[in-house]
Amino acid sequence: MSVSVMMAACIRTVYLSLMLLYLVLLGMTHTAHSIYPRIRLSHKELWQLNRTWVFQGHGASLQPQTMLLDEGHERLYVGAKNILFSLSLDRVNTHPREIQWASTESQIEECMMKGREKPECANYLKVLQQYNQTHLLVCGTGAFNPICALVKVGHTVQDRLFAFEDDSVMSGRGRCPYDPNSPCTSTLSRGELYIGLYTDYWENDGALCRLNNQTFTRTERNDRQQLNEPKFVGSAVIPDNDDRDDDKVYFFFTEREVDAEGVNKAVYTRVGRVCANDQGGQRMLVNRWSSFLKTRLICSVAGPNGIDTHFDDLEDLFVLSTKDDKNPEIFGLFSTTSAVFKGYAVCVYHMEDIRAAFNGPFAYRERPEHHWTPYEDKVPYPRPGSCASQVNGGGFSSSKEFPDEVLRFVRSHPAMYRPVLPQHHRPVLLQTEPGRKLTQIAVDRVQAQDGHYHVLYIGTDDSVVLKFITIYNKDTDTMEEVLLEELQVFKMPAPIREILISPKRQQLYVGSEVGVAQVRLHQCALYGSECADCCLARDPYCAWDGLTCSRYYPAGVYTKSRRFRRQDVRHGNAVQLCNGLQIDDEKWQRAEERFVYSVESNSTLLECVPRSLQAKVLWFLQKEEERHEVRGDERVIMTSHGLLFLRVKSSDAGVYVCQTVEHGYVHTLLRVTLHVLRGERVESAMTRNGDEEKAAVQCHASIGPSPGPSISPRSLGQPSVPGQHSKLWYKDFLQLIGYGDAQRVEEYCERVWCSDKKRKKIKRKYGPLGGEKRGKGRGDENSHRAPRHTLVT
Ligand SMILES: *[C@@H]1O[C@H](CO)[C@@H](O)[C@H](O)[C@H]1NC(C)=O
Ligand SMILES: *[C@@H]1O[C@H](CO)[C@@H](O)[C@H](O)[C@H]1NC(C)=O
Ligand SMILES: *[C@@H]1O[C@H](CO)[C@@H](O)[C@H](O)[C@H]1NC(C)=O
Ligand SMILES: *[C@@H]1O[C@H](CO)[C@@H](O)[C@H](O)[C@H]1NC(C)=O
Repeated sequence: MSVSVMMAACIRTVYLSLMLLYLVLLGMTHTAHSIYPRIRLSHKELWQLNRTWVFQGHGASLQPQTMLLDEGHERLYVGAKNILFSLSLDRVNTHPREIQWASTESQIEECMMKGREKPECANYLKVLQQYNQTHLLVCGTGAFNPICALVKVGHTVQDRLFAFEDDSVMSGRGRCPYDPNSPCTSTLSRGELYIGLYTDYWENDGALCRLNNQTFTRTERNDRQQLNEPKFVGSAVIPDNDDRDDDKVYFFFTEREVDAEGVNKAVYTRVGRVCANDQGGQRMLVNRWSSFLKTRLICSVAGPNGIDTHFDDLEDLFVLSTKDDKNPEIFGLFSTTSAVFKGYAVCVYHMEDIRAAFNGPFAYRERPEHHWTPYEDKVPYPRPGSCASQVNGGGFSSSKEFPDEVLRFVRSHPAMYRPVLPQHHRPVLLQTEPGRKLTQIAVDRVQAQDGHYHVLYIGTDDSVVLKFITIYNKDTDTMEEVLLEELQVFKMPAPIREILISPKRQQLYVGSEVGVAQVRLHQCALYGSECADCCLARDPYCAWDGLTCSRYYPAGVYTKSRRFRRQDVRHGNAVQLCNGLQIDDEKWQRAEERFVYSVESNSTLLECVPRSLQAKVLWFLQKEEERHEVRGDERVIMTSHGLLFLRVKSSDAGVYVCQTVEHGYVHTLLRVTLHVLRGERVESAMTRNGDEEKAAVQCHASIGPSPGPSISPRSLGQPSVPGQHSKLWYKDFLQLIGYGDAQRVEEYCERVWCSDKKRKKIKRKYGPLGGEKRGKGRGDENSHRAPRHTLVT
């Protein structure tokens, strides 16, 4: 026992200084706005849980924003530089197929003659659409000379076809940008490609276009009223009613507002639309949209002094289909345009609000230096922006028959007066944590026992996908955002460029330059095996079925032998749902037990890390029959790792109970019996054992804190297995908390940890480190023989 005592004595000194440093930094860096995920999983943990598979691109330079989900053929197509990949939806990393499509030598030469760098002069695939049931349309930059082609994929999965259609290569001008970095958005409907892109080599001509084999229709060239420095983000064809001739194509983009002096000003987000059947005009607006209108999308929060904070820069857009194909829900991920304050927000828009804005007044200003007002004069017939359809009276069989007056009006009044406000007139999600950028959004609609939920998957610039639900409270008119999981989907930090979702397969497909990851939407068992664990998770995918936390299926999906399910997404009220299931005493008995030995005046950590990062940890000291809460002071500090005694007194000895409280539910995680040994006894033990023993003690001391009951420790990077990784752990730790001088960290670690040689010598003497089984002590007798120490295993 004296050995373990000395181990503890040695390591604690090291640990103490680290912990103090950490506490100071923690206090400095955490803002009031940051919200913790309930569960945080590293890439390694996702991997170990079999929740993810990653395709690393076979050395190709991926174009991760060019991804297409093809559930019919069970494939995921991914564009890259000079390659098109076809991946399995089951496992993206198995049996990829590929089509090589590099630019020719002469194309590359020509590109470089135009003054481009060699790396730009390649075929970067930027447009990828399902052309029809058997073919894909794929376009690439073609070394600054865009090209398109059709790829055959066959009728069914069994065809296993993936090859170019013969002689299908065609010019990609107007279908694909020249520049690999140019933003574009496209959608394909009934054989026609709708695309927002810069159509020219110099990136001057931003346009919304439609291409089929016969015609090319687009916005006016050099018309800043229509488009001004647009950044194209999203597009979708959405029917208005059952008349296909009334279908509209919506484009989502940002542009600059032209101010009175014609000088560029603020960036705004717009939704623009055209009729899918727009044929342009006959005498004027030939091959130009005769129905293009646009209006502003607002996403803002009210400030305390009446000044709203606007999120005007659209980062990504997700169109969530519903059973009603006329009314998908539109999710926009926005950021502020301010250089000082970078915040992010998600706003949701209803189609009826978008349509109402387009049916409202046109925007008008007498002169450029005036303010916009609603246009109040008579508007020509048919209403500018409407489609030539039966629903609109059937008086015109094509836009070519529209009176000139209508075309002239639509040309000079492309903007609507009313903007589109989001659902509830506010964002559903706000993120103001500094440092992290949000890049992508995908949404799933999930049926839970207490209603439908939107599960938001948000990609960041550091390889993370955040899984949120948002809950609107009607009574208080407030929005609650719950960060269920934080998933690090790639090992290396890289911006997430695309998130596709397959509700059918319950998978996300996440693209970045470093790979394409497939991630399961949920892993209910991870939350724990008890009713309360499952209930507190508030994950609409999961419910407690009486035995485990498992996938929740609404009534009717499985008709036979449906067990009673417990789930409360809205409130996470485990007290009400689960408390009756287990009496308090029983939980007390079931809590894990540990024994910790410490030396008087030394520092000691009683470790307790709950699985949920949102749980509040409480400590109680049990002395005789009394139990009272440990509140902490300057000597005893409550840390995110546990209870830290800076100088242990003999009166500190006792039984400590670690409890967590989450949504009012109390979990007893563990009981720690702290023994405090008198200083002199240890001194004498040290002297008796001599120098070699001291060295041994030091080496033994090189064990990092063992993980708590959690499989997901608090982001401090400690390995799941203490022992040989402990040195790394401390190095990571020092670096993580901002101890920047790598050389000093190295030296420091060398001093603290012994050389491998010494370690081996000790291993022979004491057996391998960290190999001890973590048995639960049943009683004092037993536990003295096999103690479960904190910091010392
Ligand atoms: C992951 O899969 C492997 C092999 O299929 C299996 O041995 C392992 O137990 C799985 N791990 C988990 C956590 O399910
Ligand atoms: C898809 O389009 C290609 C090219 O136009 C054509 O050869 C093929 O027959 C079409 N497939 C179907 C199922 O219509
Ligand atoms: C496009 O039209 C031309 C001429 O009308 C025709 O030769 C060509 O095959 C068509 N291409 C496709 C892909 O349909
Ligand atoms: C820890 O205890 C040992 C042995 O009593 C003592 O030598 C050492 O100074 C103590 N460390 C601290 C930080 O108090």
